[in-house]
Amino acid sequence: MINFVYKNPTKIIFGRGTELKVGEEVRQYSGKVLLHYGGGSIKKTGLYDRVVNSLKQAGVEVVELGGVMPNPRLGLVNEGIKICREKGIDFILAVGGGSAIDSAKAIAVGVPYDGDVWDFFCGKAEPKEALPVGVVLTIPAAGSEASPNSVITREDGLYKRGMYSELIRPVFAIMNPELTYTLPAYQTACGTADIMAHIMERYFTNETHTDLTDRLCEATLKTMIKNVPIALEEPDNYNARAEIMWAGTIAHNGLLGTGRIEDWASHNIEHEISAIYDVAHGAGLAVVFPAWMKYVYKNNLDRFVQFAVRVWNVEMNFDEPERTALEGIERLKKFFKEIGLPVSLKEMNIGDDRLEEMASKCTNGGKATIGNFVKLNREDVYNILKLAV
Ligand code: NZQ
Ligand code: ZN
Repeated sequence: MINFVYKNPTKIIFGRGTELKVGEEVRQYSGKVLLHYGGGSIKKTGLYDRVVNSLKQAGVEVVELGGVMPNPRLGLVNEGIKICREKGIDFILAVGGGSAIDSAKAIAVGVPYDGDVWDFFCGKAEPKEALPVGVVLTIPAAGSEASPNSVITREDGLYKRGMYSELIRPVFAIMNPELTYTLPAYQTACGTADIMAHIMERYFTNETHTDLTDRLCEATLKTMIKNVPIALEEPDNYNARAEIMWAGTIAHNGLLGTGRIEDWASHNIEHEISAIYDVAHGAGLAVVFPAWMKYVYKNNLDRFVQFAVRVWNVEMNFDEPERTALEGIERLKKFFKEIGLPVSLKEMNIGDDRLEEMASKCTNGGKATIGNFVKLNREDVYNILKLAV
């Protein structure tokens, strides 16, 4: 187990009716907020009215900026920064999923910064300060409600890049599982792939003596495997929705990565796909992750055998452990298929004509490698994308 620092200050307010507390939570930080949200699902469900009423009752002035698209864009981030500066806003409230939250985080670091906010996403600068961000979560998926990351797409060149800073972990996350009843089945499935991918990016490590976090990862994966089919069958099953929502936060708040080296190659590859083709991040992961697994499993067969046996209840084949490992990968793929996700680029209507371009962008023109479980160069990434066709 390697040394680690773990601090997650996000206050989680979980359960039925909790969105009604948003006004009193925000009031502790500010009297004037930017209410930031997506394409309108929150208006259809009535959540928007409940949030605005709660804020008004607490005496908080509301300025709003909706229209965040899935795979959030830099253009709207810059608009948000301008509004906050002009109106003297010092708190951003994101109501929605990873896209609204990530856009809010980017605005939060952009407001006090003199230069171009994209500097933080291309590694040119590190933020020194940020406005506080609060969250009302409507989809368990990205884990952004308690993560120190933001992922934004720059329209010019279609670059999708992430930034990391402890300054952007939300100060609170309000999580009412009832708010997820209205999710279309496909979005529930995409969120599932993302949550499971966040766990697997941490699970696949070459670090030894990680017994506790291995078991925490396995338990969180098994919680998803049990509850997602129930939620798809009964969208308003509170307990299944609650298990999934909490698993989504645990998967990505840093706990499951403690004491181990994480991988993240599949995420890097997926970001190139959603940057160009604008597909849902979770769908892209359902395609990339099994392909990555098939490409790297021989480098640490034991770990893949453990994954198959403990997570998917595959019977151990002592004579041919490789078969056990491969069966684990197949079961993951089968699960993704059963919940309605694509498992090949073709199923997302993506051809093989831009694989080289994606492999190159992902490895900085071939100058860098990605991942830690196995360090992958441009050719490796190309080969994985080929396996995903
Ligand atoms: O935009 P609206 O109208 O709200 O509709 C959204 C959107 O179309 C809809 N939706 C959300 N909650 C709903 C709902 N529809 C009905 N009822 C509800 N309760 O779902 C769609 C997807 O929303 P989005 O916010 O895009 O989903 P998600 O949470 O999966 O976020 C995806 C983004 O997060 C990034 C991804 O790359 C992607 O850009 N990620 C962010 C991370 C982070 N900050 O730590 C880590 C992740 O690995 C990921 O990269
Ligand atoms: Zn993700």
